[in-house]
Parts: sequence; C-alpha cells; structure tokens
Amino acid sequence: MARILITSAIPYINGIKHLGNLVGSQLPADLYARYQRSRGHEVLFLCATDEHGTPAELAAAKAGQPVDEFCAQMHAVQKEIAEGFRLSFDHFGRSSSARNRALTQHFAGRLADNGLIEEVSERQVFSIDDNRFLPDRYITGTCPNCGYTQARGDQCENCTKQLDPTDLIDPRSAISGSTRLEVRETKHLFLRQRALRDRLEAWIDSKTDWPVLTTSIAKKWLYDGDGLQDRGITRDLHWGVPVMRGDRPWPGMEGKVFYVWFDAPIEYIACAAEWADAHGYADSAWERWWRTDKGAEDVRYVQFMGKDNVPFHTLSFPATIMGSGEPWKLVDYIKSFNYLNYDGGQFSTSQGRGVFMDQALQVLPADYWRWWLLSHAPENSDAEFTWENFQASVNKDLADVLGNFVSRVTKFAATKLGDTVPGGGAPGPLETALIADLGARVREYEALMEAMEVRKAAAELRGIWVIGNEYLQAAAPWSAIKTDPARAEAIVRLALNLIRVYAILSQPFIPDAAQAMLAAMGSPDAQWPDHIGSALTALPPGHAFTVPENLFRKITDEERADWQTRFAGVRT
Ligand code: 2FM
Ligand code: ZN
Repeated sequence: MARILITSAIPYINGIKHLGNLVGSQLPADLYARYQRSRGHEVLFLCATDEHGTPAELAAAKAGQPVDEFCAQMHAVQKEIAEGFRLSFDHFGRSSSARNRALTQHFAGRLADNGLIEEVSERQVFSIDDNRFLPDRYITGTCPNCGYTQARGDQCENCTKQLDPTDLIDPRSAISGSTRLEVRETKHLFLRQRALRDRLEAWIDSKTDWPVLTTSIAKKWLYDGDGLQDRGITRDLHWGVPVMRGDRPWPGMEGKVFYVWFDAPIEYIACAAEWADAHGYADSAWERWWRTDKGAEDVRYVQFMGKDNVPFHTLSFPATIMGSGEPWKLVDYIKSFNYLNYDGGQFSTSQGRGVFMDQALQVLPADYWRWWLLSHAPENSDAEFTWENFQASVNKDLADVLGNFVSRVTKFAATKLGDTVPGGGAPGPLETALIADLGARVREYEALMEAMEVRKAAAELRGIWVIGNEYLQAAAPWSAIKTDPARAEAIVRLALNLIRVYAILSQPFIPDAAQAMLAAMGSPDAQWPDHIGSALTALPPGHAFTVPENLFRKITDEERADWQTRFAGVRT
C-alpha cells in the first residue's frame, strides 16, 4: 500500500467557480484520489479556499460585509457546492486559518534566517480617503497616450500602453473614486528566488516524467528574458497574514501582510494540520504526510492545477520550501491543464460568462457534468464546452451505452429469471472472449489512470462499457431463453456481475451512478477487479439484486436549446 498526498489548487474565495476552473484542478484531482483509494492506497486529498488579497477585500466591500464574515460565508458556499460535485476532499480548509498564519510566518522567518529575504523600499500610491496603498490596477485616470478616461494604473485598456500609475492624468482611486492620492515610501520583503535558481533548475531537470505543459512553463520562467526574478512577498493591505518573522515582530513591517501568493501554497501544509485538528489527531498525523524526517519520505505528492498556476508551484513555492532549509516534502508530480472555453469564447468569472458550479447542479446531477468535463479535459490543448457536444456525450455514453446496458440486463433478469442471480449453465466461448478482452482493457485503464491521462482513461472506460453491450447483443439471452434456458442463465449471471465490475471501475468518474449500481447489485464489496475472471463471479447464484431506477436520462433538444439561451448572457 502506497501513501499518496493529493492537492488541488485552492480556489479564490470571491465568487463561485465556473466549470473551467473545476476541470482544471479539483475534478481531475478528485478522479485521481478516488482511483487511488479504490486501489487500496492511503490517500490524503486536500483543498481549501484561497481567502486573502485585494479581490477578497473588494468583494466583501461590494457585499457590504466585513471581510472575515464574507470569507466564512463564501467558504461554506464553496464547501457545499464541492460536496454537490462529490469532490471527496479529506479536508476543505481555509487559507485564513490560524494554522496557515503560523506556518506562513514560520516560513518567512526561516527564509530570513537563511539570508533569503531582502528588504526593499518602494514608492507607491497611497489613498488618503481609503486609508490604504493602492495596487496599480486599483488606480484609474486618463491615459496620457490616447486620452481614454478609464485607464488603469498598470495599463490602458484602450490603446494597450503599459503605464505606471504616476503617468495617469487626474488619477483617482478605483475603490472610492477619491482623488486625494499621494506617493509614499513603503518597505517590502522580497524572496531572493535568484539565489535559489540553480537548485530549482536542477530539481526541475530531475523531473523527467512531468507533463510537457508543466515543465515548459517552469522553464520559460527560469530562462526567458532576464530569467528568474526575486519576488515581493508582502503587501500594504489590511486583510492577510500579518508580517512576522516567525513569532517575532518584524521591525518596519507593522501593518503589512504577506502577499496572497506567498501564503496560498503554504495552505497545502496548513490544510493537513487543519485536517488533523478537525479529527482530534496529534501533529504527528499530518507531519507524516509533510515532513520527510517524520515519515513523509515514502509519500508520493501530486498537485493538480490550471496552467496559470504552474509558475507559483514549480518555482515560488519550491523556493519557499527549499529556502526554509527544513525537511518539508517537495511535490513529486504536477499535473497541469490548459483552459476550457465556453461556447465560442472564454469562461470568465469577472464577466460572469459561462456555467458556474452552482448553476450546473441546478440543471443536472453531478455525474453528467463530471463525465463530460473529465472525458473532454483540456489536457493537450485548450478544449471547448458546447451544449451540443454536452448533449451528445451524455446521451450516447451515459444513457445509450452504460445506462442502457444496466437497464436491459436487470429488467430482463428480473422479469424472466427472478430477483436473484441465476445459477444455470456454464461459461462458453463468448464469455471466455469477453473476459480476455475485458482483462486487457482493465489493465490499460489502470495504466492510464495511474498516468493521469484523464481523457484517454475516460475513452478506455467507455470502451469497457461498449464491449458489455456488444457481448449482450451477441449472446442474446432473449433468444437463448426460448431454446436453452440454462444458457440464458449463464449469460445473465455474467452480465449482472459485469454491472458490479462496471460500478467499481466507473466510480472515480461517476460516483453516484456507481453507488446506485452497487446498491442494485446488493454488493457492499467494491474490491477492485485485480483478477477479472474471479471478479465476474463475485455475485454467486442465489444472490439478490434489484432493478435500479434509470441511471441516466437523455437531454432533449428543447432542454439543450433552453440552457443554451439561459447561459448565453452574463451572470450578474
Ligand atoms: O488561481 C487560483 O484560483 C488560485 N487561488 C490558486 C492558488 S493555488 C495555491 F497556491 F494554493
Ligand atoms: Zn490609452
């Protein structure tokens, strides 16, 4: 039995995630976690909300709530939606937790002790009425280049000129509109990533099995332009982890917080501690996942994320871990994803474009979405969601292939042969051929799941469902029963067992349907079919089964058209 630590990129707290976010991190991570658990491995699967930073502050202000209350509420909302999608986190933590505060301050202290933090003075715009420094994009004014009056402090959207906030004519705060702005001196901490460059490069070079998408992004940041840059890890904000050097104050840094991207990945560690706390376990319980001096040397750590998150996970977070000089676990494998587009454009949280997780569940149960998203995961290139494609996949793969198989077999068995597994007949050449084919396909499916080849694994699973239908068609128990009832019994016995095996194999993709199939087969045992021949005799003659409710319904053309219109606009 192996031990596998799995983390999904932690979603920002402000707002509900869209399906593009879901398929790029949480959903494939869940697929992998479910698969590894079903193979009998010990898995710790963690996710959390990413709660700090300016967007969280502004979203709270917009909602008219104190930021801590807003975060607590949105955390509960995201947790419930995650449960709705059957994301099987062992813990869904919060980056604003006391555990993360202490760990973030601890890492900063260690980095400083090791000479990897530099204090840098900067001049930044301060808004007197907002009583805060303004990040560049929260200052607006007139573009000196084209005269556009809504230009942002970092760039003019109209003429695309890169700007410095001090270039703007009549600058004002994008938060309050106040024009009482002044430039003030402020001190920040920088993580000296350049000092760790060679170690990072050697480490990334040693990861020869990583997906090209992951390593190409990491190398771009290592080599492009002036190469890896030192990075500011503090901000002049009110909401965040207060800057401390371990548990000591940091002179000159009073009132400042760590940058959200510094504390967010540390939450992967803190989340394990939160998990232990929630269960009343001692620290050793989480440390054996994270500290190589306390048992984590034999843990395999896998991270899932969208491509925009790769630089932080291949460079900045490893720099934090390496720079600490402490025996923390480094990631072993990073599975990254391209983007999922929506019906001819992009999913967009800020513009409310696309289908959001809460809306999706109002339209159809989780399995439908899980199946489509995973079987179309944007692995080797960007992918596109269209309602036509969604309808076609669901109707064909889930309803016609899997659902139909289960329904035909159970209905025929129950009406013609009774409500227990029939005992007559013996396997013949068709059964032998099916078992051989299935055995080979299941081994291939295992290899693809192990390799996190999500789309290919889905295709293999679909193929496994298809051969069940083909077998049924060829064996034709409805004909056999007229001339050779024992033969029909042998076919039905195998087919009922096949339903149980399908449930176990399909569970990582479509957990609810898998559960319904197992329940109908009266099988609490979901032992992985290591040996197909014996797995197909797990339900013995006389074992009771029931006919399940229709597993999947078809999406009608009217529904498709209706949803297409309903989700064409912008969510407000
Ligand atoms: O892109 C995002 O949604 C970020 N909140 C991901 C953070 S992942 C990690 F660093 F914690
Ligand atoms: Zn301009």
